[in-house]
Parts: sequence; structure tokens; C-alpha cells
Amino acid sequence: MRPGIRPAVVDDLQGIAALDEVCFGQEAWSDTAWLGEFDRLNEDRVILVADEGAVVGYVVLLVPPMTADVVELLRIAVAPEERRTGIGGQLMTAALARCAGRTVLLEVAAGNESAIGLYGGFGFEEISRRRGYYAGGEDAVIMRWRETL
Ligand SMILES: CC(C)(COP(=O)(O)OP(=O)(O)OC[C@H]1O[C@@H](n2cnc3c(N)ncnc32)[C@H](O)[C@@H]1OP(=O)(O)O)[C@@H](O)C(=O)NCCC(=O)NCCS
Repeated sequence: MRPGIRPAVVDDLQGIAALDEVCFGQEAWSDTAWLGEFDRLNEDRVILVADEGAVVGYVVLLVPPMTADVVELLRIAVAPEERRTGIGGQLMTAALARCAGRTVLLEVAAGNESAIGLYGGFGFEEISRRRGYYAGGEDAVIMRWRETL
């Protein structure tokens, strides 16, 4: 079954935090951090979930109210057993639909082939690198998306 993509509600917090732990392990955001994201839902955060009865994916965007300001894609993940079935793409499509006319930036570990493959497929391009940025010395790649009309 194709999951539906919808905005997160407060009741999703626990499910998303649990999935974040599965997807990111030690790099997972803390409960406090997730609470902070949900607190900003009516301000500058957009959280979308892929819902199959349970949450199987999510994307978090920082969308400043001033449209001249860049949007940041802070996080995207899909449950490991659901990957490569198009859910990440569904989440990206829904996220970018909210970014019409804006520039979107993100940062990704240089070795994260699945994420870089996903972003590249949506037209994100590498614009810079931060050498040795991650623990273990991996580079961070900065990627940018602009709507092509
Ligand atoms: C990145 C991630 C969200 C992709 O989700 P997904 O649901 O598997 O993505 P999709 O099935 O929609 O794939 C879309 C495209 O992304 C690319 N892609 C996805 N997984 C890939 C992989 N393992 N290797 C190379 N390209 C990949 C492909 O271009 C793919 O299109 P295709 O299947 O037609 O070839 C998922 O792998 C994930 O949750 N990773 C762990 C969390 C993470 O690292 N997030 C990014 C940093 S915040």
C-alpha cells in the first residue's frame, strides 16, 4: 500500500522520535530536540509524515516566514524495511511543493549515497563542502535546490 503524506500532528511525536532512533542510532535527535521541532510547527517548521497506519517516514523543513530567506531541509528518513519503494521520493515531492519560488539548502554526509542519490534526482546540486565536518572525519556536502520553471 502507498503511504499517504500528511502534516505531522502532536500525536506523531513519539512515533517519529522512535523511527528517528531506528534510522539514525546515536545521531538521533533527543526527545527534547523533537519537542522543540513540534513546538515550532506554527512558526517556521514543517514536518510531513508518510503514514501507512504507522509512520514509516518523515521530513523536517525549516521554512522561514520571509520568502526571500532560504528553506533548510533538516532531516528526512524512511523506515529501513520500507526503503527503495518510493517513499523518500513521495516525501521530497510533498516537501518541495511547499517551497515554490524559494531556495532550499541541505547538508549531507559525503558517503550517504542513498540520500545524495535521492536529492540529486530532485535537482539538488552540490554547491560546497565542509571538510572533515562529521565525527570520523567525513566531509559534509552542501546541496542547493531551486525551482526550475
Ligand atoms: C535517504 C532515504 C530517505 C531515501 O528513502 P527511500 O524511500 O529509500 O527513497 P526512494 O525509494 O524514494 O528512492 C528515490 C531515489 O533515491 C535514490 N536512492 C535511494 N536509495 C538509494 C541507494 N541506496 N543508493 C543510491 N540511490 C538511492 C535513487 O535515485 C532512488 O530512485 P530509484 O529507486 O528510482 O533508483 C533513506 O535511504 C533513509 O531513510 N536513509 C537514512 C536516513 C538518512 O540518511 N537521511 C538523510 C540525511 S538527513
